[in-house]
Formats: sequence, structure tokens, C-alpha cells
Amino acid sequence: MDTMNKEQLVESAREMKRHAYVPYSKFPVGVALLLKDGTVTNGVNVENVSLGATNCAERTAVFTAVANGYKKGDFQAIAVAGDTVDFLPPCSICRQVLAEFCLPDMPVYLTNEKKEILELTLKELLPYAFTDLDM
Ligand code: THU
Repeated sequence: MDTMNKEQLVESAREMKRHAYVPYSKFPVGVALLLKDGTVTNGVNVENVSLGATNCAERTAVFTAVANGYKKGDFQAIAVAGDTVDFLPPCSICRQVLAEFCLPDMPVYLTNEKKEILELTLKELLPYAFTDLDM
């Protein structure tokens, strides 16, 4: 990583949690998405009283990057942070969204309340992903 190392990216995700809108779950999640040009796009979970309209932090970050003009292949790494004892993994819907825009070998950094970092690839997180290649 040129501009930001994984510790800095994880710290950015952690710092972002304070913007999460979580009146129902009280479970803040922050994300930092590193783009190929060195830009970092952040995301938080944004909940809704209807619950089903909730958007996870990972999707908020990806959709924000796409809205800002970034394309498939522009995604370099993602860090996900919660206030959890264990490493907080993205939900299955977010894994599918990541698979839409990110390469299988993209690093995914998970962290826990002890600030440890688990480094995975997207392929490890979502093996046998359904992609446009399968259509
Ligand atoms: N959530 C995320 O934002 N990302 C994850 O990786 C797991 C779950 C959110 C959705 C909801 O607002 C809350 O966490 C509890 O499920």
C-alpha cells in the first residue's frame, strides 16, 4: 500500500464508527475502503426503523465510491471495524457487493476490540462467489 498502511486503514475504519446511525442495534460499524489512487472512502451502517432498509457500513463505503466515479478494479483494500470481541466479518450481502467490484485477491482487514488485525482476501471471505463470469 502506497498511501496508507493496514494499521492506518483499520484506524480510519475504527474512527468512523462514531458516525454510525444505530438507534436500534446500538452496534456501530465503520469501514475504510482504500482506492487505487490512494483515496480512502469511508462508510458506516445506517439503520432504519423498518430494519430491512438498513444499509451496512461496507455497502455504504462501496456505493459512495461508485457514486464518486470509481469503477470495478479501482478498489485496493477494505478495513472493517466494530466494538466486538471477535473479528467482525462482513455480512453475506456485503460480501456479494464486494465481489461485484473488487478482485478476489483484494485484502480485507478485520479487527476486534483488542485492535488485533486479521488479514484475509475477498476470495477467502467468499469462496465460489457468483460473479458475472458465471452468467
Ligand atoms: N452491520 C454492518 O454494518 N456490517 C457488518 O459487517 C455486520 C453488520 C450492521 C448492520 C446493522 O446495522 C448492525 O450492524 C447489526 O446487524
